[in-house]
Amino acid sequence: MTPIYLDYNATTPIDPAVREAMLPYLGEWFGNPSSSHAQGRAWADAIEDARGQVAEMLGAAPSEIVFTAGGTESNNLAILGTMTREASSTARHVVISSIEHPATIAPADFLERQGYAVSIVGCDKSGTVDAADVRAALRPETALVSILHANNEVGSMQPIREIADACHEQRTLMHTDAAQSAGKVPVRVDDLAVDLLSIAGHKLYAPKGIGALYVRSGTQLDPVLHGAGQERGFRPGTENTAYIVGLGVAAELITNGLAEAQQHMQAMRDRLHAALASAMGEGLSVNGMDAERLPNTLSVNFPHIVGQELLERTSDVFASTGAACHSGTTKLSATLAAIGLDESTARGTVRLSVGRHTTAKEVDRAAQSLFAAWRELHAAS
Ligand SMILES: Cc1ncc(COP(=O)(O)O)c(C=O)c1O
Repeated sequence: MTPIYLDYNATTPIDPAVREAMLPYLGEWFGNPSSSHAQGRAWADAIEDARGQVAEMLGAAPSEIVFTAGGTESNNLAILGTMTREASSTARHVVISSIEHPATIAPADFLERQGYAVSIVGCDKSGTVDAADVRAALRPETALVSILHANNEVGSMQPIREIADACHEQRTLMHTDAAQSAGKVPVRVDDLAVDLLSIAGHKLYAPKGIGALYVRSGTQLDPVLHGAGQERGFRPGTENTAYIVGLGVAAELITNGLAEAQQHMQAMRDRLHAALASAMGEGLSVNGMDAERLPNTLSVNFPHIVGQELLERTSDVFASTGAACHSGTTKLSATLAAIGLDESTARGTVRLSVGRHTTAKEVDRAAQSLFAAWRELHAAS
């Protein structure tokens, strides 16, 4: 039987329409968008079309979109690009949260090693950062706040607008990592009032290795890479035209179909939860249950068992765990630690994330498989 993929927060497949649009740029027809002849101009036009499609998805102007190689690069460009401009000033303080992806934590750690100050704001037990805590962490010398829009593990959404408003009461820029939220909920830069926003292609049915950074007009940013000046100098290097075209089409699919996809994913996620809860009774708890959550994410704690063993036994379900268990010790992910999950509960955490084409049949089969494996493991423990 075909395995049931419930790991859409890890990555999504490439949508057939996206692949179709990319193919001409991967065949015999080739060009460098910087060439001034007609072939080069055609490739440059394709990039500008895609820029318009991504901008439309985000409610931005096309000139505010910079193509990158994915979510990690977008976050690095936003964080390092902002802070290196401040290298010789006193504004050398950055604020992040305790539930960031490593693509934010690592550049912040890097800055700290270079002598910048970094503050980490915690969250409540449902995985939500309080805007008042961010406000309290702001200092006159805070140049940037970077807080993700939706957490990748528990799916909790963050009060980005409120945080951005607090930042803008002083000279502080606001960046949000929207790698998980784009394509699942509306992500509009003016509603969020952010200065910088990252997206990752492979979370929204475009390929891996492509992404974008929204840079609000007028925002001062240094490039991280230095080269020939493509992407208005923010991201030099010959453009990955095929993938940029793919990201554009993926964005257009979202612009046209988000409401339906959001509703469908939520229905599938809730069906999965209901099926597991009715089989298992009260033993099953859900992380982030009290938070406003992504419509597709269900982070569940299977009691008395180890999530990793459960997924090994459930070979027809592909999902992720939240804690790594090695020789009797458990290492919680940063997010599970931040929400205060105890070690024994976190051992049983499994992140199930549905996609826009997940079916009710798949969800029902997955719930049965997971429950059967849980029962066997529990009986053997
Ligand atoms: C919240 C978040 N930010 C950033 C990334 C990194 O994106 P990419 O894999 O495109 O570098 C991910 C991917 O897991 C993510 O979930």
